[in-house]
Amino acid sequence: MKEVNKETALITGGASGIGLSMGKRLAEAGMKVALADIEIPVLEEAVEELKGLGHKAMGVHCDVSDITSVEEMKTQIEKEFGSPKVVCLNAGVGFGSSISEATISDWEWVMGVNLWGVIHGLNTFLPAIKEMDEGHIVMTASIAGLISVPNLGPYNATKFAVVSIAETLRQELLTENSNVGVSCLCPGFVSTNIFNSERNRPEDLLNSSTGDFTEDELLLREAFMEWIVTNAKQPDEVAELVYQAISNNKFWIFTDDQHLNGVKSRHSSIVTGEELPWPAPPLIDL
Ligand SMILES: NC(=O)c1ccc[n+]([C@@H]2O[C@H](COP(=O)([O-])OP(=O)(O)OC[C@H]3O[C@@H](n4cnc5c(N)ncnc54)[C@H](O)[C@@H]3O)[C@@H](O)[C@H]2O)c1
Repeated sequence: MKEVNKETALITGGASGIGLSMGKRLAEAGMKVALADIEIPVLEEAVEELKGLGHKAMGVHCDVSDITSVEEMKTQIEKEFGSPKVVCLNAGVGFGSSISEATISDWEWVMGVNLWGVIHGLNTFLPAIKEMDEGHIVMTASIAGLISVPNLGPYNATKFAVVSIAETLRQELLTENSNVGVSCLCPGFVSTNIFNSERNRPEDLLNSSTGDFTEDELLLREAFMEWIVTNAKQPDEVAELVYQAISNNKFWIFTDDQHLNGVKSRHSSIVTGEELPWPAPPLIDL
């Protein structure tokens, strides 16, 4: 999809972080931008910010884990801005836990947003985009969709699934000679609010022990957050890569090449049948 100006873009999880930056970048390219998010006050601020910059923007309150909410969001966007030609399925929550400690509520929350959110988005928006035979779908996965990072079990599982959905859709559309593009965004660490995702966890899926850190864990978390502030990519940099990928119909979007060594060694262990790289190489050195 070479020309994206004057069309409508939808970004789920558009009130914050990578989603908000994608919204700004696509608005700068001349698109009408619909931001969909569960967090109303920040969503309203984000829309005001875009409008203040002279862009055409609207906000829709939406819970991507709920298909009815996603369908209602589509109706609102179509009424105001027309059918989106660029759809960024980006809403996501971060959650750290070992497989043995994750509760059913943890799994349901993370799967609901990160995986069902993408499935609901595709189910709702793909038919119209295919019918127009023009447009682009960006799915936000993660480098954790290509490497199984210890203590991120439910998160990894959702992102591996998103990578597979994106790859499959890309191949199916190519087979159909469709002009609809697909990109799979696999960021490394980006300085956003993802590390405070519990703010959006629904009450019926709370885990009473979340946030119970030992002193050592607290120190580690502090060091990690310091590392993020100084070293992680900025969401605007990621949004630029996304914009370029949409413009050039490029499938993979990586933000940090150094993580690709981990991908190589994982794939090599699959091909040779040897043990997984273990202990798992750390993503960052604290
Ligand atoms: N920040 C990173 O280091 C990083 C790395 C890899 C992948 N990602 C992925 O990037 C995407 C964007 O995350 P971010 O880093 O910008 O975090 P963020 O917390 O800044 O933004 C995520 C947005 O999703 C929204 N959201 C959460 N639950 C929702 C729901 N049920 N329905 C609708 N919206 C909901 C939040 O309100 C928030 O605005 C996520 O899919 C995340 O997994 C982030």
